[in-house]
Amino acid sequence: MTFPEALGQAAALVQVRLDAALANRADEPVIYAMRYATSGGKRLRGFLVLESAALFGIAPSQAISAAAAVEALHAYSLVHDDMPCMDDDDLRRGQPTVHVKWDEATAVLAGDALQTLAFELLTDPALGSGETRVELVRGLAVASGAEGMVLGQALDIAAETATTPLTLDQITRLQAGKTGALIRWSAEAGAVIAGEDPAPLRAYATALGLAFQIADDILDVTGDSAKAGKRLQKDAQAGKATFVSLLGLEQAQARAKSLVDEAESHLAPFGAKAQNLIDAARFVIARDS
Ligand code: IPE
Ligand code: IPE
Ligand code: MG
Ligand code: MG
Ligand code: MG
Repeated sequence: MTFPEALGQAAALVQVRLDAALANRADEPVIYAMRYATSGGKRLRGFLVLESAALFGIAPSQAISAAAAVEALHAYSLVHDDMPCMDDDDLRRGQPTVHVKWDEATAVLAGDALQTLAFELLTDPALGSGETRVELVRGLAVASGAEGMVLGQALDIAAETATTPLTLDQITRLQAGKTGALIRWSAEAGAVIAGEDPAPLRAYATALGLAFQIADDILDVTGDSAKAGKRLQKDAQAGKATFVSLLGLEQAQARAKSLVDEAESHLAPFGAKAQNLIDAARFVIARDS
């Protein structure tokens, strides 16, 4: 299976799982907003869960709730990221953002409920023993909270009003939390489900996550909003601290490329089985959305 086919298949499986999780819920705007916010997207994090599981012979049917969980968590982070108090965006995945389509209270609450849905999904017995599920829950809590995504988002917002530009180390720390932590959890999840050593996947995902956010920052400068499905050229205007603002476009591109090479090198122990994960790393810096 080629990489685009594998990504498309993962996306379809994640959608089915999320649809099932959100079926038979209350007939309320907050639930419609949750369904809306979990539609579309590349599903890269869900793909990483399913592909890392496949490395250890774990079937998609066993790992799918973990893939859906991280996509629910990610969707929550986007709903809140787009709100007026954060990035104030009106377009996401080619559609009006949740607070524009409904209102701010619905966006806050849909985001909150998507976050708790993620942890509900991780209790699925298909994922393994109680111990395995607790490890997945603990890992996702750490990755998304005050040591991970939330910390990165807080540093990102704080940098908008900082009087001195961030250093390379500070931007690296910001981005490792903001985007890196969820990507790392996703790539490690397969090893956790299989009870295997997550170290090579962690090293792969650390490099991949950083390359991913550098590419997002480059896209903000050079991308096409119609293709990306979100407003672009906003980071500089908002005074965001990005790799592009610090290194310039060319050096940021070179850094992303070398991170992808590094990511690939960490997959050597898996041989040909890791081809889709190698292709995912190349895709991350070549994408237009
Ligand atoms: C966008 O993430 C936000 C960042 C974390 C930079 P993605 O580019 O993965 O967005 P979707 O899920 O494909 O819409
Ligand atoms: C968002 O980063 C990261 C999270 C939601 C955790 P950005 O603010 O750069 O993402 P986009 O550019 O709006 O997709
Ligand atoms: Mg943001
Ligand atoms: Mg944003
Ligand atoms: Mg961005």
